[in-house]
Formats: sequence, structure tokens, C-alpha cells
Amino acid sequence: MRTFVVLSVILASVSSALAQTASAAAYVVTESPIAKAGLLANIGPSGSKSSGAKAGIVIASPSTTNPDYLYTWTRDSSLVFKAIIDQYTTGLDTSLRGLIDDFFTAESTLQQVSNPSGTVSTGGLGEPKFNIDETAFTGAWGRPQRDGPALRATALITYANYLYGSGNTTFVTNTLWPVIKLDLDYIANNWNQTTFDLWEEVSSSSFFTTAVQHRSMREGAALATKLGVTALASTYTSAADSLLCFLQSYWNPTGGYITANTGGGRSGKDANTVLTSIHTFDPAAGCDAVTFQPCSDKALANLKVYVDSFRSIYSINSGIASNAAVATGRYPEDSYYNGNPWYLTTLAVAEQLYDALIVWNAQGSLTVTATSLPFFQQFSSSVTAGTYASSSTTFATLTTSIKTFADGFVAIVAKYTPSGGGLSEQYDKATGAQLSAADLTWSYAAALTAFEARSGTTFASWGAAGLTTSCSAGTSTGSGSGSGADTVTVNFQETATTTFGENIYLVGSISELGNWDPNSAIALSAANYPNWQVSVALPPSTAIQYKYIRIFNGAVTWESDPNRSLTTPASGSANENDTWR
Ligand code: NOJ
Ligand code: NOJ
Repeated sequence: MRTFVVLSVILASVSSALAQTASAAAYVVTESPIAKAGLLANIGPSGSKSSGAKAGIVIASPSTTNPDYLYTWTRDSSLVFKAIIDQYTTGLDTSLRGLIDDFFTAESTLQQVSNPSGTVSTGGLGEPKFNIDETAFTGAWGRPQRDGPALRATALITYANYLYGSGNTTFVTNTLWPVIKLDLDYIANNWNQTTFDLWEEVSSSSFFTTAVQHRSMREGAALATKLGVTALASTYTSAADSLLCFLQSYWNPTGGYITANTGGGRSGKDANTVLTSIHTFDPAAGCDAVTFQPCSDKALANLKVYVDSFRSIYSINSGIASNAAVATGRYPEDSYYNGNPWYLTTLAVAEQLYDALIVWNAQGSLTVTATSLPFFQQFSSSVTAGTYASSSTTFATLTTSIKTFADGFVAIVAKYTPSGGGLSEQYDKATGAQLSAADLTWSYAAALTAFEARSGTTFASWGAAGLTTSCSAGTSTGSGSGSGADTVTVNFQETATTTFGENIYLVGSISELGNWDPNSAIALSAANYPNWQVSVALPPSTAIQYKYIRIFNGAVTWESDPNRSLTTPASGSANENDTWR
């Protein structure tokens, strides 16, 4: 009797694993052409659902009411075209060249359109969305959003690198580079400024934004070097070094996850972080945690915490085993359309896992650390920290289970895709029915990139391999690309209780600290609230003054006098532990 029960449990779980794998595989076959066609239908001027859009303009969705998404967002468009450019430059689809050139022209036009965020030289590049006839959108909105220029630069740099490599150097230098350079300079000049997050709701610093800015600065530096603009290359590299340092501060070691935003007053568990992992995946970077690669211990620990945060809040997830795939959304506190799962976020979980499998298989081993142990224990309760070669049964057990787990997320998306194959933005947390914007271009791109990762396809590296940071205690100062570091790290911590929506910033007497300008103040992370924290690269052996400020709805409150002061060390790092006064 007991044997029978155990056996039937095993059989049931084997057959459900096979069923998930089979339905994911079948879905990839049927949905791939639908997703590709759905994406192309949303690009002007001849996409079948994008009438009125200028050439190369990506509409977010053809939906004009509830919600009105008939606009072009720099983020959505750049992510969509990154997928298109990857397909073109790797030879997967050589018919896309004309569309890419249209996109380039459209974006270079939009860069020059004065808008509520400013002109091209006064901040206008941070404007999140435009009308589809390439005029400015002037309504109220969460602006600026500083991920857009970085994502656009990354897409165009991928194209530029390909053309340069195929001998088209004049076109890259004379045509592409001036446009790419505008976005790169904007990031280099504004990376430490407050931004709205990718969900257009929270104004603070945001992990996704910092990470994609970091990527764009690395790639931008490499392209500048190739084109012989070495002064710019070092400007971008030094911004990249600072960004990589700041990126580390989003990690919450107590919770074992990445806190998505420094503001916002939420748990910080957010698809923001999973999207970061897939959009900064570099197959050459192994499982490096410094850039939160998909198979890094931090990104895997984070993935589990993120996924688990949706298990009990969506009723379509009820009854699903605690180690099986579920529907996931933007963040558990989401209330947009009452808060539902999104296709693009559920697909992102699958993609991160497929990316991880690509690297483990390529390197022939997999490492479990204390940080990633809870993630791996989902698939083998007895697994312990260690490195497992691909010849081991542990490697086989874990990778097989993780592939099944990943396919499970695709199977969830398949289950809630209506028969025609169209993908909207959201699906209902209780019924699974489609909700919000129909035919969301980003949903289709998310399906295509997840499917590509499932098949083991990888795209060009961006220079994440071997990066190190001087931020963590004990490591010597140094920069990612080997240029001699001329900064030291100061770890600022300020204990301050705040009200919902209020954030703590650091400002001081030197340019690295914003020259006392609150608009240039550096945001601190609330990952360990009420201890706000940020690590800043500063010149060595320098006397500086500083203060913390709190910003609430744009209103600035300064700490009381006198100014705080410190002299930075000659090398290494220093800690400043302060309390609000
Ligand atoms: C529209 C934004 O695009 C969406 O991300 C946000 O959740 C809602 N406005 C509510 O703020
Ligand atoms: C709302 C999403 O939150 C935002 O990320 C996106 O850019 C817009 N919708 C358009 O798709």
C-alpha cells in the first residue's frame, strides 16, 4: 500500500513534469510565428496594427482605451529592437535590415524633439514616451525615465558592432555614432540622478535602470575605443565603474534578494530584477554575481524570493506545489488593474533559468553557494554547497529539474494564452483571462527571447566578463576594465526613519557628491531600512564636507548644521556611520 502510494506520487510528478515540458515545447512551435508577426504588426509605417505610426516607430500596443497605449515608449521600443537586431546580426533573420534602419532614423528624430523633460541637450533624452507621429507627449507622466537612453544605446551598439565588424566602418562612424553618443553622454552625465522606475511609478534609484546604464557605459566605452575616441572611452568607463559600485548596494543580504528601488516603500521584490538579469546576460561572464548574471547565486536566490511572492496572492496559483512554476507579475504590491500576472514577467523567469542552463552546460559544472542554497533545495532537499561537474548525478538531477521548472513558466503562459495566440499585457489573477493592453509588443518580444534562450541561442557579449568592483570590503581598488583606479570607496550609512514615499540622499562639497546641489544628490538604498546605505567612489586623501537630505514629493529637508566632514583614505575604503540629525 505504502509502496503503491509512493509510486503513484512519483509517477504523477514524472507525468506532470513531462506534460509541462511537452506543453512548453508545443507552445514554442505554435506561438513563435504568432509572436513574431504580432511584433512586426506593431511597427510603423506598414505594420498591420500600427497605422499612423511613422516609419520605425514601435507602438506599445494598438489599444486606444483602457488603457491607451498607442504611444511609443523608448524602453519598449529599444527592448523590441534589441531582439530584432539580435536576430538580424546573428543571421537568424536577414530580412530585418530595412526595419532596423527605420528604427534608427525614427529614434534619431525623437532624440531631437523638445519635450516636457527638456531638449536634446537639457534632459529631453530621459522622456519616456512620444506620440506615434514623432511629436512630444505633453500630458502629465512619470518622467524622466533614465533607462530608455541606455536601452536604446545598447540596441544600436549591437547593430554598430556588427556593421563595424563587417567592414561598414564609415556608416558606423558618421551616421550611427553621433546618435549613440548622445544617449551615452546623457547616461555619463546623469547616472546618479533620480529616475522613475521602469513601471513609471517610483521616483528614486532603480536596479534595472542602474544595471542597463552600467551595461551601456561598458559597451559605449568599448565602441568609443574602437572608433578612436579614447577620451570618451575613459569617461564612460569611469561612469561604468561608479554604476557597478552602486549596483551592489541593491542587494539585501538579510532577505536574500535584490531590492528593486531605493524608494517606493514596498518590499522591493520586483520583476525589475529578473528583467535585469536577462537583459544584461552575457554568456561570456559565467555566473558572476557582480553583474547579477542569470546563474549567479544572488540572481538565483532573488528569483526564488520573487517567484514565491506571487504564490499566495493570485488565485490561479492556488494548489500548485511550492517548488513548481506559477504565474508572476510586476511586484506583489501592484494595484494596476488590481494587480495581475503579466506575460512578459512570467516569461522572464523562464528566460533567466534557460540562460542559467546555457552557462552551466557550457562550463560543464554548476556551483551551489550558501546564498543560492534555498533556490537549489527546491529541486533537491539534500543538496549542499559545492561545485558539481556535469558528469555528476547532482548536476544531472538539478539541471533536469530546473529545465522542467523553466518550462513550467512557459506552460503557464501557454495555458493562459487564448486560442488565437495573441498576448496582451496581463492575465487575470483569478480567471486567467486577458487584461489590459491587447497585443502588447513587449509581450511578443518577451516570448521570442525566452524561446531563443530555451533553444540555447546566445547573442553577442557586452563586456561583463571579469568585471570587479572596489566596493566590497577587503577587495583592492580597481576598475572593471583594468584601468588604474584613482578612487577610494566610502561606504555611507545613515540611520533615518522616513515616511512612505520619502527618501534619503547624500550631497556634499565635491562634484562626486553633487557640489551641494540637491538635484545632483546621490540616492541611498533602503534595503536595510532604517539604515540607508550607499557606496561612493571618491578621490583619495581629500577633505570633504557632506550632509544627508530627505526628499519628499520634491521637497528637500536638510540635516541640521554643522556640515559633516571627512578625509578620504589614501587607498582602500572607509565607512561613515551616521544618524539623521
Ligand atoms: C501607467 C503606467 O504605464 C503603469 O506602469 C502604471 O502602473 C500605471 N500608469 C499606474 O501608475
Ligand atoms: C506600462 C509598463 O509599466 C511600462 O513599463 C511600459 O513601458 C508601458 N506600460 C508601455 O508598455
